[in-house]
Amino acid sequence: MSLPLPQFGKPLRVEAPPAQTRGVRPTHLVDSHGRRIRDLRLSLTDRCNFRCTYCMDPDVRFCRRTELLTEAEMLRLARIFAGFGIDRIRLTGGEPTLYPTLPELIAELSELGMRDIAMTTNGSLATDADLAAWHNAGLHRLSVSLDTLRPDRFTALTRATSSPERVIETVRLAKRVGMHPVKINAVVMRGLNDDELVDFARLARELAVEIRFIEFMPLDSGRRWGREAVVSADEMLEQIEAVFPLRDTSRERTCSPAQRFAFADGTPGGIGIIASVTRPFCNACSRIRITADGKLMPCLFSTAEWDLRTIMREGGSDDDLASTIVEATLAKQAGHTIASPQYQQPDRQMSAIGG
Ligand code: 5AD
Ligand code: SF4
Repeated sequence: MSLPLPQFGKPLRVEAPPAQTRGVRPTHLVDSHGRRIRDLRLSLTDRCNFRCTYCMDPDVRFCRRTELLTEAEMLRLARIFAGFGIDRIRLTGGEPTLYPTLPELIAELSELGMRDIAMTTNGSLATDADLAAWHNAGLHRLSVSLDTLRPDRFTALTRATSSPERVIETVRLAKRVGMHPVKINAVVMRGLNDDELVDFARLARELAVEIRFIEFMPLDSGRRWGREAVVSADEMLEQIEAVFPLRDTSRERTCSPAQRFAFADGTPGGIGIIASVTRPFCNACSRIRITADGKLMPCLFSTAEWDLRTIMREGGSDDDLASTIVEATLAKQAGHTIASPQYQQPDRQMSAIGG
C-alpha cells in the first residue's frame, strides 16, 4: 500500500533567542514558523495500569519517584506558561488518574488561571465520585481512549484486566457529572481493529459523543509500526459512510486537528478523524509538552528535550525557566517527517511523552 505522504522542508536552523528573552519576558510564545503556542500538555506520570501493545513494553522501566516532577514543580511551570498567555492545559500520562492528588492539582491549576482544563485517560479506574470531584475542581473536557469494543481484543491489546464495558461506563458517568465535551479516542490499526469502525460509530450515536479515530503513528514502543498498518482517513470515512452518511462540520470549528463530521440523519454524536499521518496538521500546531520527568518537548516527534526539572532543582530562577521555554519554542520543528526516508523514531515511547 502506498500512502499519500506529504513532504516537509529541511530541518530547521535554530535562530538565537531574540534579545527580549534576556530581559523582559515576552507575553506570548511564538515559534520560528510563526505558530503561536496556546496549548500545554502536562504528563502527570509515566505509569499506567495498562500495557497497550502500541504504547508500552510489558517490561517497561518507569521513572523513579524522584525523577518525576513534584506537584509544586508542575504548578511552578504551569504558572510560567500562564504568564505566556497559555490558559489551556491537558493532563496526560501514562495514566493521569493514577496521580494521587489529582483533584487538588486540578483546583490549583484553575486557580492560577488555566481556564480550559482537559484530560486524556484510559477510563478504567474512574468512579462516579472521582469524576464529580475532578469536575468540581475545574476539569471540564475528557477524552477516553478505547481502541476496541471486543472484550477478547481489549485484553490482548491492553494486557490488562479491564473491559470495554468498564471504559464505556466512565464515558457515561463523565457525561452525567456534567463534563463536556466527553470524547472517545481510538487508534485505528490495520488487522487489529479496522473492522470495528461502524460499531464505534454506532456507539457514538448511542452515547451521543464524538468518537475520534486516530491514524496510527510511529511512536509505538514495540516498533511494530509500518506504513501498511496505517488505515488512512479516506479509508475510514468510506467504511463509516457506507452505513452512516456523514456531514462535514469541520469548517464550523477551525482550531482542532480533527476533521469533524455529524451524522447526516441528525442523530447526536459525531465522528472526528485525526489524520496525523496522511493529512498532518503540523502547520496549525499550537502545542507544547512537558513529560512526567520535567522535560519540555516542543513536538511529539522532538528528538531534543529541554530539561526544566534540572533547572528548577539547581536553583534556577523563573527567568531562567522562561528563557529555556522560549528557546525550546523557537526550536519547534516545522512538522514531522514520517514521509522522509531519513525519518527517525524518537527514543521515548508514547507512554513517556503523554500522547
Ligand atoms: N499513534 C496514534 N495515537 C497513539 N496514542 C498512543 N500511541 C499512539 C500511536 N502510536 C494515543 C492513545 C491515546 C493518546 C494518549 O495517544 O490512544 O488516545
Ligand atoms: Fe496506558 Fe494509554 Fe499507554 Fe495504553 S495507551 S498503556 S492506556 S498510557
